[in-house]
Parts: sequence; structure tokens; C-alpha cells
Amino acid sequence: MNPSVGSIVVLISGAGSNLRAIARACQEQAWQARIAAVFSNRADAAGLGVAAEFGIPAEVLQPREGEAREAYEQRLAQRIDVHAPTAVVLAGFMRVLGAPFVEHYRERLINVHPSLLPAFAGLHTHRRALEAGVKWHGATVHLVSAEVDAGPIVDQAVVPVRDDDTETSLRARVLEQEHRIYPPAVRALAERRLRVQGQRVRVLGRAEPQR
Ligand code: GRF
Repeated sequence: MNPSVGSIVVLISGAGSNLRAIARACQEQAWQARIAAVFSNRADAAGLGVAAEFGIPAEVLQPREGEAREAYEQRLAQRIDVHAPTAVVLAGFMRVLGAPFVEHYRERLINVHPSLLPAFAGLHTHRRALEAGVKWHGATVHLVSAEVDAGPIVDQAVVPVRDDDTETSLRARVLEQEHRIYPPAVRALAERRLRVQGQRVRVLGRAEPQR
């Protein structure tokens, strides 16, 4: 394998719509990176079908009965490291990752979160945004730090909240934006074009994103 070509590993638990957006962009654009593997912690993740569609090797790695979180994450990291990833991509991976795992992939681990962080970290972001009455909601792509849904922000997209929005309608419009901003951020990380200084991230060689 050409070492200058970035290697991407994607972790999923569910539908895999972000995986699809990333795989499509990688296929259609001349990325200096390839998706080496997909791992799922759930055997029933629909995203495994997405990996198959794109011919990406996929593996189910489930926590064993009574297995400690750290032990599971060590096994996972061992499998991931086979691919010497320049980017480890959380795409709907529904597990909180421990500090040793996060530290091991420092500045290589990226996540998309369905809110404008630092607002609405955690779960049920769309419901909470509606309850709080905010007029703007959105999505955030960020590098992962040990704290949940924190870490240097790579990109954000803003979505207006409409008077007639429900949790479902708002989720759908935010997801559309995730699919728009996540692939270029993953690409930049995989191609080693992110520069991190404190909480601020610069993306080298980025065409100004269309907002
Ligand atoms: C997305 O909303 C993402 O922000 C969140 O989990 C969801 C994953 O969706 N972390 P998908 O599996 O990519 O369709």
C-alpha cells in the first residue's frame, strides 16, 4: 500500500447513512485516502449492508458477556490498527469510548454530532432543541477528546428550526447537513490536512465550504 494514501476506518452501530455519504464521496472524488474497513459493535446494523454495497470489508466486533469496557476497546483497537488508520471515523457508533482508546487515536478520531456543540451534548438532541425553543439547530464535526461530545470543532452546519418542526422533521434536515459536512472533514483528516491548536482547527487546502 502507498503510505502517502490515507487509511480510513469507520465505526458504526446503526443505519450507516453517514458511512454511505463518506463512501460515495470517496468513490466519486479523487481522495488521497481509502476506506480500509468498517467495524460494527452490532450484528444487526443496517450499515453493514452499506459497507457491502461499496465493497468495503466489514467486521462485527461485539462486546462479550461481562467484558470490561477497556478490554473491549483494546480488542477493537487491535483490529483497527491492522489498517494503520490516518482517520478513525465515528459514524453513529453508539458507545462512549474510554480515555485510553481516545488517547491512542488522539487527533485521528473524528465524530459527527447532531447539534451545534457545545449546545446539546449527549442524546436526544433534536427533542431537547425543540423543548428549549432554540431557533437554530445543526450539526458539528469534531475531533474526539475524552470528554463526551467535546473536542476541537472541524466544521458546523446550521439548520433553522421551523414552527411546525417535529423531532423527526428536524432530525431529517440535520442529517442532510451531516452528510454534507462530514465527508470533506473526514477527507481532510485522512489526508493529514487538519492542524489543531488548542480548541481551534485549521483545514489546509480547503475550498471555502458552501454554506
Ligand atoms: C447521526 O445522527 C449522527 O449524528 C449520530 O448518529 C446518527 C447516525 O446515523 N451520531 P447514521 O448511522 O450515519 O445514519
